[in-house]
Amino acid sequence: MKNLILAITTLVLVSCSGGRNSTGYSIINDMKYSVAYEAFTTNPVLPNGQTMMVAPEGTISRGHLPDEVDAEGNPVLLENPYEMTDYAWERGEKYYNIMCATCHGAEGKADGPVVTQGGFPKPPNFMARRWRNIEKYSVGHVYKVITHGIGNMASYSQQLYPEDRWAVAEYVRKRLMRGKNKYKQ
Ligand code: HEC
Repeated sequence: MKNLILAITTLVLVSCSGGRNSTGYSIINDMKYSVAYEAFTTNPVLPNGQTMMVAPEGTISRGHLPDEVDAEGNPVLLENPYEMTDYAWERGEKYYNIMCATCHGAEGKADGPVVTQGGFPKPPNFMARRWRNIEKYSVGHVYKVITHGIGNMASYSQQLYPEDRWAVAEYVRKRLMRGKNKYKQ
């Protein structure tokens, strides 16, 4: 009996010896010590001795399409690089109604609920005369507005992929702003 108590006491003392952060005796060490290098640790294999490396020069994140610039670094007039299939028109209209109509209104008359009920600053009416100037207010212009935002309007580049931004811009410019001739291109 005495021996049994001694054995249990020893076992209890030994099993707790590592403090509260200890994982105790480890049989499968792969579970305890990661085989992979941790991001912020030094590294004997990679250059600079760092595990986490800087992305190679010219790397762009997925889905990001940088604005094209000319030799002097000025932005060139943007044109839709994607083909406007029936499906693209459909997506343009769909995403306009989801992302934009909340403010701009389903018909582009700046009467969406965020404006009328939420009190958000009123955007310009898409039926206004100035939109007849397609040179100045081109599809590329609308694409840029969606990508970078303008004045009180935030950028929608996180919500829409470039391809869908173009589709929405085409829809806004060529169908919605045409008013009555909505479905003529
Ligand atoms: C939260 C409300 C809101 C949403 C959502 C919104 N806009 Fe706007 N938009 C505005 C406001 C406000 C302005 C006026 C900005 C200013 O001049 O301060 C504006 C301006 C514009 C203009 C005019 C730019 C110019 O040259 O004057 C266009 C085009 C436009 N938005 C398109 C869109 C499209 C496309 C979407 C959907 C992807 C969208 N907006 C979503 C509020 C919104």
